[in-house]
Amino acid sequence: MFEQQPEAIQQKVKKLATELQKVNPTARFDVLYSEAKGDARQIPWALLRIHPYLQEWLDISQRKGEGSTALVIGCGLGDDAEALAKFGFQVTAFDISTKAIAWCQERFPNSSVNYLVADLLTLDAEWHRKFDLVLESRTIQALPVEMRSQVVNCIAPLVANRGTLLVITRIRDNDSIPDGPPWALSDKELAEFIKLGLQEVRRDLFLSEPSEKKIKKVRIEYSLNESGLTHASP
Ligand SMILES: C[S@@+](CC[C@H](N)C(=O)[O-])C[C@H]1O[C@@H](n2cnc3c(N)ncnc32)[C@H](O)[C@@H]1O
Repeated sequence: MFEQQPEAIQQKVKKLATELQKVNPTARFDVLYSEAKGDARQIPWALLRIHPYLQEWLDISQRKGEGSTALVIGCGLGDDAEALAKFGFQVTAFDISTKAIAWCQERFPNSSVNYLVADLLTLDAEWHRKFDLVLESRTIQALPVEMRSQVVNCIAPLVANRGTLLVITRIRDNDSIPDGPPWALSDKELAEFIKLGLQEVRRDLFLSEPSEKKIKKVRIEYSLNESGLTHASP
């Protein structure tokens, strides 16, 4: 239910993705945030609260931040970042959309979260293995399949030694090209995290809710093994 959006908004997201995909696959996000003019109902993924799978994971794992560092990738309107800050993490949250980051800052003027405009594909080398918790929720699936390997290769090195990567995403059962956006991930695509030195610790599968058509979602917890990241063979 919480991912169901009006048909018109879904169509707008698809149209923007189709029009801008070849020129600049990430430009459509800023267009969408800008055209929403502060109305979060125009942002199909905006829940305006912590993602329930993140909340459940925090409850199950009894994870507390206690000052450890967390990075939220493609933070959107900032609700997950704010929730992690309340759990005691020292949070950095970034998004490629200037408008989204300005919106986070307006929504949470007294926040302890360090909100930044940044592109996942060109992050500062200083962030290499820096974060105890990296949250990737629904950003990989929002980017075209052709970029997948590049995106995964940009996420994995952000996790600190003995740190955690939490991925919340739609998945698909095979490697055929999916319809999108969002473009669900395959097991083969997810396996690239393992090739890059992460270990899968826990996977929870969420099947479609009655209002959603055949949507499969997963929450996967990875940890970085002590020998560190390796590079995928070509
Ligand atoms: C589907 S939304 C998910 C937002 C948020 N994670 C959530 O679950 O509500 C994907 C987000 O990733 C951002 N994004 C897309 N490409 C990005 C990139 N290359 N670097 C940083 N953020 C990006 C978009 O602007 C958008 O806010």
